[in-house]
Amino acid sequence: MNKNPIKIVETVLRDGHQSLAATRMRTSDMIPVLREMDNIGYYALEAWGGATFDACLRFLDEDPWERLRTIKKYVRKTPLQMLLRGQNILGYNHYADDVVREFVFRSVDNGIDIIRIFDALNDVRNLECAMKATKDAGAHAQGAIVYTISPYHKNEDFLRVAQDLIDMGADSICIKDMAGLLSPYAAYDLVKTLKEKTSVPINVHSHCTSAMASMTYLKAIEAGADIIDTAISPFSRSTSQPATEPFVYTLAGRERDTGIDLQKLHSLADYFNIVKLDLAKTFNLNTDIPVDPKVLTFQIPGGMLSNLLRQMKEQGAEDKYPELLKEMPKVRAELGYPPLVTPTSQSVGSMAALNVTLGRYKMIPKEVKDLVRGKYGHTPGPIDPIIKKMIMGDEEPIGHRPADDIPPQMEKMAKNLAEAGYPNATKEDILSYALFPDVALTYFGKHRCENPVCPKNCK
Ligand code: CO
Repeated sequence: MNKNPIKIVETVLRDGHQSLAATRMRTSDMIPVLREMDNIGYYALEAWGGATFDACLRFLDEDPWERLRTIKKYVRKTPLQMLLRGQNILGYNHYADDVVREFVFRSVDNGIDIIRIFDALNDVRNLECAMKATKDAGAHAQGAIVYTISPYHKNEDFLRVAQDLIDMGADSICIKDMAGLLSPYAAYDLVKTLKEKTSVPINVHSHCTSAMASMTYLKAIEAGADIIDTAISPFSRSTSQPATEPFVYTLAGRERDTGIDLQKLHSLADYFNIVKLDLAKTFNLNTDIPVDPKVLTFQIPGGMLSNLLRQMKEQGAEDKYPELLKEMPKVRAELGYPPLVTPTSQSVGSMAALNVTLGRYKMIPKEVKDLVRGKYGHTPGPIDPIIKKMIMGDEEPIGHRPADDIPPQMEKMAKNLAEAGYPNATKEDILSYALFPDVALTYFGKHRCENPVCPKNCK
């Protein structure tokens, strides 16, 4: 048995289909291979969180909690992992601490073993509550640092964030590169720094958006990374993770041999190929998303570039598009270098579009004002003082942890749900409602009858 294998987190049940199939994989698509997956020898299966929760309720008529319990029923040995957006849980707004805490506890109770927690701005105060709850619930708390490129995202900045997370109890650290910007040599240096200065396992999570991620992983492995996130081939590459199989083959017989049997992966890939074709057909999806190395120059995902171009065309301002490409990095710098991932990418993009069409900062969207006010936390770099003055006047920015302003919400949510006709709602249902009220109510309307003599026996 190899003493130092690279550990593999298989992402097909979460990020793989979130990236390539609009998060439409159904529980029934997963069940037939879950036992097989449990026997492969993965370090963990990323199977929940991110957009899967919303997609279950909104598009698939499924209860996400039920999905988790079902997966757990089949996956007995391999830890189940989820992705949590710190104080935002699975969305883009801050929730009260009692909701975050309850959500973490219910997740662990229903089957989650490892929780990867991140904040888009790397403001560790937004991870505090979720990290503590994860530790209290007895699960593995993985603190994630969001990777991006800016004068305020140097190795020493990332190291500082990692150390803060370890001080909060992080059991491992993930370098989370959502946009695929982490280059092979940058990864090598960053992983080396983290391995030298910390003593927890280092996990690298990237996307093939710029077509660099496989090279990036290999250099990260050479630098001593402990864990990589990959997706079985049919749900790999383009905007998803690198494929699992080439890593198993590349490292076989070497120092970092994964210990995984490639034949088993081939059979799994055959199965997921069929699932992918079926999802594309059923939901009318284009799963053949091209890679987009332009992200390396513009640091903006290609999807967003084409959206902006379309918006400009609609406003008859197509000729301003080259100007917009120059305006984006300027706005990003003025707003303190937020990473260009959802939702800050939208804020920066729409601000830049307004600037080139109406004049600089003549009209400012609410999300941009909130970012400047500190409503999401500290931006990585300082906000341009002139812009700040323009938006806030003499108002002081929020200096404390943003969630400190939010009073407890669980009781109120339970009360609202009771008033909506569900006085006996479970904690899980209350959380579904707290996170996605409209879609949860639609789902409950179909599946949660409080009538004790319901003719449809729907309980
Ligand atoms: Co990802």
